[in-house]
Amino acid sequence: MFSWNMFVVSAVVVLMGVCQCASGRGRGHHRVDGRHVRNIDSNGISVLGGDFNHDSAFPRFAEPIPNVTVTVGRDALLACVVENLRGFKVAWVRVDTQTILSIHHNVITQNPRISLSYNDHRSWYLHIKNVQEVDRGWYMCQVNTDPMRSRQGYLQVVVPPSIIDKETSSDMVVLESTNVSLTCKATGYPEPYVMWRREDGEDIKYNGENVNVVDGEILFITKVSRLHMAVYLCIASNGVPPSISKRVQLKVQFPPMLSIPNQLEGAYVGQDVTLECRTEAFPTSINYWTTERGDMIISGSDKYEAVSMDNGYKKYMMLKIRRVNKSDFGSYRCVAKNSLGETDGVIKLEEIPAPTTTRTTTHLATPVAKKGGPRGGSKGGDNRANAVGAEDTRISEYDYEGEYTLPSNGPPPIREPPGAFSAASRSAGFGVGRFVVALLFLRSFFQNGTSRAAAAAAAGPR
Ligand SMILES: *[C@@H]1O[C@H](CO)[C@@H](O)[C@H](O)[C@H]1NC(C)=O
Ligand SMILES: *[C@@H]1O[C@H](CO)[C@@H](O)[C@H](O)[C@H]1NC(C)=O
Ligand SMILES: *[C@@H]1O[C@H](CO)[C@@H](O)[C@H](O)[C@H]1NC(C)=O
Ligand SMILES: *[C@@H]1O[C@H](CO)[C@@H](O)[C@H](O)[C@H]1NC(C)=O
Repeated sequence: MFSWNMFVVSAVVVLMGVCQCASGRGRGHHRVDGRHVRNIDSNGISVLGGDFNHDSAFPRFAEPIPNVTVTVGRDALLACVVENLRGFKVAWVRVDTQTILSIHHNVITQNPRISLSYNDHRSWYLHIKNVQEVDRGWYMCQVNTDPMRSRQGYLQVVVPPSIIDKETSSDMVVLESTNVSLTCKATGYPEPYVMWRREDGEDIKYNGENVNVVDGEILFITKVSRLHMAVYLCIASNGVPPSISKRVQLKVQFPPMLSIPNQLEGAYVGQDVTLECRTEAFPTSINYWTTERGDMIISGSDKYEAVSMDNGYKKYMMLKIRRVNKSDFGSYRCVAKNSLGETDGVIKLEEIPAPTTTRTTTHLATPVAKKGGPRGGSKGGDNRANAVGAEDTRISEYDYEGEYTLPSNGPPPIREPPGAFSAASRSAGFGVGRFVVALLFLRSFFQNGTSRAAAAAAAGPR
């Protein structure tokens, strides 16, 4: 065997020059070039059979060793197909570590995850069970010809992303206006791509822009606001399923703030009236109403019904006073308290004459007139009335980021004689233009946030 091999080697060397000339004339597996048969194996390497009858009997690889990609924990199979192996032997070698894994029918490595199977003396399979990242690399299939002949294939081991809990932010409670940094670290192979977004799908106000997704490990929010209060998802993906995410809840604390749509309410004796107050606070505030004397108003009596609707950190308070009598006129206070502070606001309930006719325009002077300039709407009389105030309330509820839903019995009662506004005011020239002005004003008011000063500014003229 040895001497035969040596002969082949020298034949290769001697005949190399002769064979080069053949390469220019097209390609084929078997090509007769003078007296020499030239085999071109799958890798384009010439194999010379020389003059012997067993020209094509020299071992050759039937196909390249396919590269294999396996997710960690799965099993991998590397295949080496050799034709005409005859008495030669196939070995599997780990290239990076120069470790022999198997020779012929024997597994050499001590690694219990590695095994071997073969077929017809032709196909040689290397099995790697429960593939680990250390298995990533080149694997070589060798045939012990002289010179040795080999092919290699790459085993790619991919790892789905996972989030490193220790290096990733957990739920946070911060004060409004501070800087907040949420961090997310993930591992995996290939290196995962990490991004942040809100669980509710809303945009994130980020560096003065509204963005849906923030790329990268760090979500750095300067001067955090209550609008940032949300559950955030850190999502890591690298093309290897499954992607993974972690929820991080961000709570933003701030002292109560309060706004009053109408600081002045008018009612006549015998009427039911509803006072309204909006607050924002986190932690959630405790809200209540007091009388002028500071007595807390207990809801549920015949006289008073206090309702509060919560929407996140916002509350909408209503106090319904039934059958107003003389002693009910005066000031009411809505109060909101949380651990960071307390605020209150005053609503004045004033008496207005009981309606004598629904056609009167007496009460139609409007807060809007103050902004938009009167255009025939204000005809003197009681300038403080709330006909438009009631309408304001309905607009603002509608406009208030669309978040409040009114009780199922519809919008709050209009605190005016029925028809006083809807019929008379329109006939008094409260045109579409003014209405739009009112809407715009209310929009800007609510967008500017809520403050008592703004609330005062928004109240009707005194
Ligand atoms: C295996 O991957 C290597 C690069 O990683 C490439 O050069 C080679 O052609 C690939 N082999 C096959 C059979 O795809
Ligand atoms: C918050 O971040 C901004 C921008 O990086 C920086 O200018 C400011 O000093 C930070 N404020 C605090 C309190 O760290
Ligand atoms: C007016 O209502 C108050 C309760 O707010 C009640 O105590 C008082 O008796 C009532 N007065 C009259 C005259 O009905
Ligand atoms: C709201 O803010 C804008 C600019 O910040 C200002 O022009 C507008 O007058 C404000 N509106 C109210 C009602 O405060």
